[in-house]
Amino acid sequence: MKFSIKKGNPEKQRSSCIVVGVFEPGELTPPAGAMNKAAKGYIDNILGRGDFDGKAGSTLVLHNVPGTQCERLLLVGLGKETKLDDKIYRDVIRGAFQGLSKTGAEDAMLFLTDIPVENRNAAWKISQTVILAQENGYRFNRLKTKIDETGSRLRKLVLAASSLDHESVAAQESALQQAFAISEGIDLAKDLGNLAPNICTPAYLAKQAVTIAKNHKLKVTVLEQRDMEKLGMGALLAVAQGSRQPAKLISLEYWGGAKKEKPVVLVGKGITFDTGGISLKPAAEMDEMKYDMCGAASVLGTIAAIAQMRLAINVVGIIPTTENMPGGNATKPGDVVTSMSGQTIEILNTDAEGRLILCDALAYAQRYEPQVVIDIATLTGACVIALGHVASGLLSNDDELAEELLLASRQASDPAWRLPLWDDYQEQLKSNFADMANIGGRAAGTITAACFLSRFTGKYRWAHLDIAGTAWKSGKEKGATGRPVPLLTQFLIARTKEGNRHP
Ligand code: BES
Ligand code: MN
Ligand code: ZN
Repeated sequence: MKFSIKKGNPEKQRSSCIVVGVFEPGELTPPAGAMNKAAKGYIDNILGRGDFDGKAGSTLVLHNVPGTQCERLLLVGLGKETKLDDKIYRDVIRGAFQGLSKTGAEDAMLFLTDIPVENRNAAWKISQTVILAQENGYRFNRLKTKIDETGSRLRKLVLAASSLDHESVAAQESALQQAFAISEGIDLAKDLGNLAPNICTPAYLAKQAVTIAKNHKLKVTVLEQRDMEKLGMGALLAVAQGSRQPAKLISLEYWGGAKKEKPVVLVGKGITFDTGGISLKPAAEMDEMKYDMCGAASVLGTIAAIAQMRLAINVVGIIPTTENMPGGNATKPGDVVTSMSGQTIEILNTDAEGRLILCDALAYAQRYEPQVVIDIATLTGACVIALGHVASGLLSNDDELAEELLLASRQASDPAWRLPLWDDYQEQLKSNFADMANIGGRAAGTITAACFLSRFTGKYRWAHLDIAGTAWKSGKEKGATGRPVPLLTQFLIARTKEGNRHP
């Protein structure tokens, strides 16, 4: 989809569809009022008949409205004026795109930039609109021979520039460009997640990283199994040894910031399929364990997005990637392995494999002398029980970093919620035979998983995002969400702004 920003009066636009907002129970926004005036009260007439009440996200399409230059006019309900918050604005925009999808319009102009949303400027509204437009148009057709033609024909979207906001049109344009880069990063993360696990293997992820590096002139390194053996990554290799697919450790480096500035390191769990290993998972919905590399996908999507927007920051993505399979050589419950950090681990459950590959990647991250490290992982089913499919779990050894991430999550409408990482939980990881066990029992499963990781974070500031409930949707709408690319990109964008950086 092509996006642009333009100033202008709605009644004068030659467009396939003009979109304007109407508050509940029928109050016209200024652009709707302008259309109504040009059409000599035509919209007021229709509202008077009771055909449209302005409920948030509802739509009504009108054709050949007199006195205007457009083929169609789409009215979008905004709900009650006093209630308009982030969620409702997003519902309104989603509703508008669903309404547009039902028409044949290939281009449209939206006059929704000046709708008042508390604490949100035009740049935020533009950014949300671009991301939701792209979301509305997303289809995963790569593995189908008959392409599903349902959905939007929309190819070109023009957003009315704000006439109220203090921001210049140039600033609004740059918000649009950034949002477009983010939406492409989201699409990349979704595509990788949705790909079949026989295609999206560790080698495939490595190839993707190399492609991103080529496109944006980044540095990429792929460690092979023998390299990891030399580094002593016994935990990661213990997961890999049950699989026929060779494991990889990918590093993708984006150096867009100052030379001396230490990088933000993003570590993404890249289990391209999680059978559970010898602690085999039940059959129901096991296909969804192809999504166990969504942390890795979000790291690739985020780096692709910030490289495209040429963000002034240094970011390194580290992706430990392997399958978790129950092969003849697979790790057995009771096996004890030595991690890269030197600490020994008793693997009591081979299905708690994410933390095993992450712990070696976190030790490896140390070599970049990171400013902060954030790992992103579909780590625990317990997180889905705790927070459902709404918020990602956030755990951190640093309050300031946690706050920074929470702020980014709100700004990006990609919610996260912090859980405690108190030492009291560490006791659950005690082992009689090694430095620690890889599981801590059923209680507080998300926290004990993070406790396990915390033992490998050395001295750096670190946060962990558990995206088990947010990285994909199940059921009829099964598909990757691209989360938390919005959160991560927003976090990085905010870091480049003056006064936002912590030592
Ligand atoms: N990839 C899973 C976590 C998961 C499960 C995410 C279901 C989304 C939906 C992870 O590797 C796993 O299997 N975790 C175990 C840990 C347990 C054995 C301590 C879990 O959550 O059951
Ligand atoms: Mn598992
Ligand atoms: Zn897993």
